[in-house]
Amino acid sequence: MQKKLSITKIQKAKGERPLTMITAYDALFAKLFDPTADMILVGDSLNMSFGGKPDTLSATLEQMIYHTQAVCNGAENSFIIADMPFGTYPTSEKALQNATRFFQETNADAVKIEGGEEKAETIKYLVQNGIAVCGHIGLLPQSVRGEGGYKVKGKNDAEATQLIADAKAVEAAGAFCMVIEGVKAEVATAVTEAVEVPVIGIGAGNGVDGQVLVFSDMLGLFEAFTPKFVKKYLDGATLVTEAVTRYKEEVESRVFPDEIHTY
Ligand code: KIV
Repeated sequence: MQKKLSITKIQKAKGERPLTMITAYDALFAKLFDPTADMILVGDSLNMSFGGKPDTLSATLEQMIYHTQAVCNGAENSFIIADMPFGTYPTSEKALQNATRFFQETNADAVKIEGGEEKAETIKYLVQNGIAVCGHIGLLPQSVRGEGGYKVKGKNDAEATQLIADAKAVEAAGAFCMVIEGVKAEVATAVTEAVEVPVIGIGAGNGVDGQVLVFSDMLGLFEAFTPKFVKKYLDGATLVTEAVTRYKEEVESRVFPDEIHTY
């Protein structure tokens, strides 16, 4: 079992080895991922995969704190990042107030906020006040309603130039690493080369410093839709359905509980 990585170790990994980040929303799965993952992200994607909502926007601060506490209870060795939900960081002051709640009420090691140049002031303010920040640039799920859909970024020169400016601003503001989501692979690679902090990709190709996937996607548990970038490492939905079907059959036929499962 590896020891929890420090921010310094996470940053030293750049150019040495790709980092593995995975989401978790509860202690049960966090415990399973803990021996393997470098970083666990308590993503507001929980609102979709667990909450059944169409996007991440209705996740609340209270929900994120509850789930972050649960993940921290299950994972002792992974570096844990809590997603600041939509609407909780409109100003630097508000961001600090809400990020402080994550640090006081959970054992999270860092928070993540979405946005590039426009969020640099906020990131700087958090970092100056002792909050470690992971940035998030490219496709920003919290902007999906404002932008009218999930749109891959880096499709033209202007977008590529903006992404590099965003990454540099987030780095200069003091973020220790950043997620880059839904970006053409060659642009994500250029962004990765333009900054010194690790850039963790999701739907951003293989030229970045690490990968993050939503666990319910990669375990094949979330069936509503599968983005192109998701690789299913398990057919979780089929396995669960088969198990529950067998359970029902055994209940109905009184095969379960048998003698060894009876007091
Ligand atoms: O909420 C989340 O799970 C995320 C990942 C998609 C990076 O932000």
